[in-house]
Amino acid sequence: MSSTQPQDRPFFTEQHSEDVVIARAGPNANPRVKQIVDSLVRHLHAAVKETEPTIEEWMTAIQFLTKTGQLCTDWRQEFILLSDTLGISMLVETINNRKPAGETESTVLGPFHVSNAPRYANGSNICLDGKGEPLWVAGQVKDVAGNPIPGAVLDVWQANEDGFYDVQQKGIQPDDNLRGIFMSDEHGRYFFRSAYPRYYPIPDDGTVGQLLRTLDRQPNRPAHLHFIVSAPGYLPVTTHIFTPDCPWLRDDAVFGVKESLIAKFHRSADAVRAERLGMSAPFWEVEWDFVLRREAK
Ligand code: BEZ
Ligand code: FE
Repeated sequence: MSSTQPQDRPFFTEQHSEDVVIARAGPNANPRVKQIVDSLVRHLHAAVKETEPTIEEWMTAIQFLTKTGQLCTDWRQEFILLSDTLGISMLVETINNRKPAGETESTVLGPFHVSNAPRYANGSNICLDGKGEPLWVAGQVKDVAGNPIPGAVLDVWQANEDGFYDVQQKGIQPDDNLRGIFMSDEHGRYFFRSAYPRYYPIPDDGTVGQLLRTLDRQPNRPAHLHFIVSAPGYLPVTTHIFTPDCPWLRDDAVFGVKESLIAKFHRSADAVRAERLGMSAPFWEVEWDFVLRREAK
């Protein structure tokens, strides 16, 4: 008895549509690209068979993707935003950074990191616009056994009190507002002054915003500070610290919240301590350690 193989099906049928497409690849196909495209074709054909879109709905999807591409510039990547809001960015990030318990977990980089932020001495203030309640951030960079890592580089950035990054408000915020690079001291410790972060909406004036509204989804990210922490001989981590009290903590528009990244922030009215730290009361404090794993040799 002979069974019908996909390659024996040159003509299109609704039932075997995905097999007909997949069988078209030639013997010199790039194996990895073929693996990914075959999987996409299988899942996309299954989705089309499940939902049976009308021709008008298919055209709406094409126009949505066309407009998404047209919105992309050197400064705006609407396709990454689409990937973010569908949870794809977080899934790819997490698959590529599986962390044993105890290691600092990763989350999305986001579009507002800049390379070459100013380098500061520990204790410096990165809040250049004077907005928001003062925040003292301090902690240790250590390895999984708890040993301090001196000389670790901590690249930090966050939005201001109005919910915008400096790069979104050139000419309105001072350049390099709320971003900077610090280095852990001989005890692995780092410390700096900033402003209590606020939640903010992802750019929602394009196709992604339109999709969120159509799905009755909100566009905000819960309040956070971004960090990239690296040290020679260790795997770097791209991560956030989240405040625990933000209304959007359980509804992040880009699914970036992992439970282990929610910190305790303490509000203090201690004027003496505030002055010692170079701030005014009331102020916020967060103590947060980063745990890195050694790079495999
Ligand atoms: C951010 O946290 O900066 C961000 C992440 C993903 C999309 C938009 C913004
Ligand atoms: Fe952010």
